Amino acid sequence: MIKYIAYVSRQSYILTDEDISALLVTCRTKNMRNEITGMLIYFDGTFIQFLEGPKENIDPLFDLISKDKRHQDVILLIDGVSSKREFEDWSMAFKKMTQPETAKILGQKDFKKEDLFKGKDPNTEHPGLLLIKSFVNNLHI
Ligand SMILES: Cc1cc2nc3c(=O)[nH]c(=O)nc-3n(C[C@H](O)[C@H](O)[C@H](O)COP(=O)(O)O)c2cc1C
Repeated sequence: MIKYIAYVSRQSYILTDEDISALLVTCRTKNMRNEITGMLIYFDGTFIQFLEGPKENIDPLFDLISKDKRHQDVILLIDGVSSKREFEDWSMAFKKMTQPETAKILGQKDFKKEDLFKGKDPNTEHPGLLLIKSFVNNLHI
């Protein structure tokens, strides 16, 4: 079984495209070594990340990520175990999303990043998880 988690967070300062590229190089190199796969979405200064892999690697990584000074307000959205991976071929897939793209996927014209940090509505799935799922669905077509 593998463990998965997803969280949202806000960047602590304005990250340039170079900052994000450097972050992705670290993620991908280390994740390959640690048998971790997943996806990182960057939307208007916020991160939504899905991580999956051996529990003994996921737990310390999430601990490290939570303390990373490049972002703050880390909120865990979901965690669990699964018999199969969603992002098998991706050491860290990445998508920088615009407001119109995000709004289209979520079907909410005026969707804004603050909506990612609102208390959870028990009747609907968290928008961060819906975004991740839309990419998972595309991968499996
Ligand atoms: C939004 C965000 C996502 C991150 N994702 C990962 C990741 O998937 N894998 C990873 O190894 N580090 C990730 N990091 C970086 C870790 O926080 C940490 O800096 C990195 O693992 C280097 O650790 P080291 O001190 O062991 O070299 C992420 C950082 C941020 C801010």
